[in-house]
Amino acid sequence: MALNINNSNNKPKKSISSSQSNLCTILFFIVLFTIPALFLLHTPTTSICTTFANHVKPWSGDLRAAQFAWNRLLFLQYPDQPPPIALKIAVFSRKWPIGTTPGGMERHAHTLHTALARRGHQVHVFTSPNQLGVISTTSSPYIHCHEGEPGRWRYNKAWEQFMEENKREPFDVVHSESVALPHYIARQLPNLAVSWHGIALESLQSDIFQDLARRPNEPISPAFNNTLQGVVPKVLNEIRFFKSYAHHVAISDSCGEMLRDVYQIPNKRVHVILNGVDEDEFGKDLSLGLEFRSRMGVPGNASLVLGVAGRLVKDKGHPLLYEAFTKLISKHPDVYLIVAGSGPWEQRYKDLGPQVLVLGSMSPSQLKAFYNAIDIFVNPTLRPQGLDLTLMEAMMSGKPVMASRFPSIKGTIVVDDEFGYMFAPNVESLLEALEAVVEEGSERLAQRGQACREYATSMFTARKMALAYERLFLCIKNESFCTYP
Ligand SMILES: *[C@@H]1O[C@H](CO)[C@@H](O)[C@H](O)[C@H]1NC(C)=O
Ligand SMILES: *[C@@H]1O[C@H](CO)[C@@H](O)[C@H](O)[C@H]1NC(C)=O
Ligand SMILES: *[C@@H]1O[C@H](CO)[C@@H](O)[C@H](O)[C@H]1NC(C)=O
Repeated sequence: MALNINNSNNKPKKSISSSQSNLCTILFFIVLFTIPALFLLHTPTTSICTTFANHVKPWSGDLRAAQFAWNRLLFLQYPDQPPPIALKIAVFSRKWPIGTTPGGMERHAHTLHTALARRGHQVHVFTSPNQLGVISTTSSPYIHCHEGEPGRWRYNKAWEQFMEENKREPFDVVHSESVALPHYIARQLPNLAVSWHGIALESLQSDIFQDLARRPNEPISPAFNNTLQGVVPKVLNEIRFFKSYAHHVAISDSCGEMLRDVYQIPNKRVHVILNGVDEDEFGKDLSLGLEFRSRMGVPGNASLVLGVAGRLVKDKGHPLLYEAFTKLISKHPDVYLIVAGSGPWEQRYKDLGPQVLVLGSMSPSQLKAFYNAIDIFVNPTLRPQGLDLTLMEAMMSGKPVMASRFPSIKGTIVVDDEFGYMFAPNVESLLEALEAVVEEGSERLAQRGQACREYATSMFTARKMALAYERLFLCIKNESFCTYP
């Protein structure tokens, strides 16, 4: 598998097969891979590390200068040992997930800070009250819900609670999930890191794609028209206030690039740390998948099963998939689509007949079975703000993916042709990709899925994400931790 080590761009090479074309290339790669392999053999790391040797970057230096995703580093010095010092960490998150199906940003906050608390850090989460009232916890992570209406974020109240706790014993580092902490408060905090789950420049691109996906006679909605009119001023405003945040965490490689190149934030204040998914929650389990297929009524003679998950709304690209799949099944009576999610497009999918199974929203354990039941995961989104967790979950489950060709997806997820397909966000391009998948067949897709699984277990684990954030927080606390390894 091709990984570039000396390319300053830090992107893996496209296409695996082309690297096998001649002997010279093979020899070159043998030499190239011997270096990380030796590196790994001489360290007392666990055996799983060797499976992702190909994606690990041998690199040393000041981490603040690194422009690639920190997930590519091994964090050799303390894989399973406790951190060198225990930090006191404040987290500002508009919501903290309890019970219900949480959004991506809340899940990120929860996964990350639960892991950091487990590693012995004293984590205090400042968040809004929820339906169950105020949550109280007696161990880290400590949850501080401010007073008021459930789900309504009031940063002033949270800030007061933070100040009180900070007076008792100062925090080493403060973490804000997007603009939970507004810039005029953030400005006062030199030890602040903010994780951006979507920025206005990404919305600009989404808005273009959403408008282009409108049918010729379909009128533009006044609300969307307003959004379109306002998006450029929004980008400019964001660029002007973003500099008030001391440290920026980009959750995709392309977001890191935008923050450096368009938002003009100095390199040393932009850090790329990809979101991770819980490796215990999502994994490969063939029998679970087969059992789910038959329980859901996918017939044994199905030649191919596609899957789509998430909210069934327009801006997630469902009009495109609906139309493309309608055309696909008119030619292929043995191709199936499993729809895991609910929303306005649910009924339309149901109307497509027995080749579409609409299952509604799913719990994480049902989702695990769902991913294992399909041959390929489709995400036709027209609005890929941040980084879509479903693509990572599918890859972690050993499945290849098909997704709209957006910078975040191209730069961070489908970084190798082997991992699946990308299409332009329109019906023709999606249908073309679907036809190619059908022609390729489930056996070849399973091979691709294996490559996805290897990549995901090296790059997208919650454990890797937590170690990377821990290292960033240590570096913010004390510069001596900024030098890697
Ligand atoms: C969209 O908004 C602009 C500016 O407010 C306005 O001039 C235009 O007529 C609107 N277009 C539609 C189709 O509503
Ligand atoms: C697949 O099997 C079902 C019965 O389980 C049958 O009704 C259907 O016609 C078959 N489809 C194809 C394409 O052979
Ligand atoms: C930073 O860490 C180094 C080495 O661990 C230590 O000697 C130094 O005192 C620390 N500095 C501060 C300001 O805590």
